[in-house]
Amino acid sequence: MPIRELKVCLLGDSDVGKTSIIYRFTKDRFEHTTKPTIGAFFVYKAMSCGKELHKFLIWDTAGHERFADLLPMYYRGSTAAVIVYDITRWSSFHTLKKWVQELKEHEPEDIIIAIAGNKCDLSDVRKVPLEMAKDYAESIGAIYLETSAKSGHNITELFKAISQRVPPLSPGGGEKNVSIKLHEPKQRHSPPSPGAGNSYPLTVSVHESTKD
Ligand code: GTP
Repeated sequence: MPIRELKVCLLGDSDVGKTSIIYRFTKDRFEHTTKPTIGAFFVYKAMSCGKELHKFLIWDTAGHERFADLLPMYYRGSTAAVIVYDITRWSSFHTLKKWVQELKEHEPEDIIIAIAGNKCDLSDVRKVPLEMAKDYAESIGAIYLETSAKSGHNITELFKAISQRVPPLSPGGGEKNVSIKLHEPKQRHSPPSPGAGNSYPLTVSVHESTKD
């Protein structure tokens, strides 16, 4: 099975739930209290897409503006950017638009942009109307989904939608037979702490053999 490594970065205001989305996607868990991300960290997660295996290299970035100058270092060269806002906070929707502008100015045209309206489990205190966000996403050709890292709603679907937008490898484009295994370290002294500034203790082994 051909394997593709896809760099995906999550961007958005502080507290919108970037780390929580990653934690839900990679560990299927949720924490009510998280520490702010310091700088950035990454984690791997693989998912099959048709005849390919997509190995996501997911970068979580800090939403706090004191880290803003560092962020281009992390999103540069990404296949996809997931811009997250909190449906209960208008200011986070305005920040999302700034991110779109920045990506359009500095990244190649074919970068896949996905917008996640997170915390949709709190829709009774919603500030940003669903239709408005959807129309905006459509106007810029972005994927749009409302998500909840808390309930897990649309989290896997978000990454699936990204996978489906990645053009398939052209024939003879360096295909390899690959088997991939995700495993956790045998000894873990404490549970992973989302937002602690480290990658989660998830490692990937890849075994490749060239096609005849
Ligand atoms: P920074 O690291 O500061 O950029 O924040 P972040 O965007 O990574 O947010 P984080 O994942 O740390 O979540 C912030 C807070 O929102 C935490 O208290 C989470 O438990 C909470 N949270 C995240 N996602 C959801 C969600 O889908 N629903 C609800 N109700 N709370 C959420």
